[in-house]
Amino acid sequence: MTQPIGIFDSGIGGTSIFKEIHALLPYENTIYLADSKYAPYGNKSKQEIIDLSIKNTELLLSKNCKLIVVACNTATTNAIKILRNNYNVPFIGIEPAIKPAALNTQTKAIGILATKGTLSSELFHQTTDLYSNGINVVEQVGEGIVPLIEDGKTYSEEMKALLEAYLKPMLKANIDYLVLGCTHYPYLIPLLLEMLPKHVKIIDSGLAVARQTKNILEQNTLLNLRKKASKNIFYTNGRVSILKDILENQFEVKSLDF
Ligand code: DGL
Repeated sequence: MTQPIGIFDSGIGGTSIFKEIHALLPYENTIYLADSKYAPYGNKSKQEIIDLSIKNTELLLSKNCKLIVVACNTATTNAIKILRNNYNVPFIGIEPAIKPAALNTQTKAIGILATKGTLSSELFHQTTDLYSNGINVVEQVGEGIVPLIEDGKTYSEEMKALLEAYLKPMLKANIDYLVLGCTHYPYLIPLLLEMLPKHVKIIDSGLAVARQTKNILEQNTLLNLRKKASKNIFYTNGRVSILKDILENQFEVKSLDF
């Protein structure tokens, strides 16, 4: 099936998920929506996050998408249930990778960096309760990180100062896993590797989401079987140049008001 996969995020962060999907499914056509105008979602109310997720979903469906990847932890944890109940296409969501961290920690302490919207959601609490028995889960809201990334200041002194403050309580608790619970955060990995002690492993859910996307396409016989170069289009209601930069100028980026 040649119809595109739709992907949306509150901004440019979900491109970290797009890259995993594109690497695993190179023949799939995709349409990406960067809702940068309304970023960050992380401090918005549940209802606002639901409304924005519906707006993005309807735009992707109007462009004939066969499956939608909610490439945003905040939107997934607050809105995916409602999206699944209201629309007739498969939805793939993303949640912080608590399970592998909790299963593998040796120090019995793990850190989770995510948005306020994710950390306060019911879905996040359910998953944490399920896997965190006997483990110290140090939760930290990454206040201010997404706006800096959206502003092209990923590798900056301001970012370093924020991360230093956010990592402090985690390192004090002797974490050996840091879970990146926001799709913008994989872009912080080069900086985090400079700042974290060697024994702390960083994990995110990008590859798991790509694998799940492939499984669901297969199960629903939705895979694109034509082995032709794919068409990957990116729409942003924010700055085109920032999205182009994060995609290393490899894909077509268009400005769209939505
Ligand atoms: N990239 C998003 C996430 O995974 C949302 C960040 C935000 O807009 O606050 O949570």
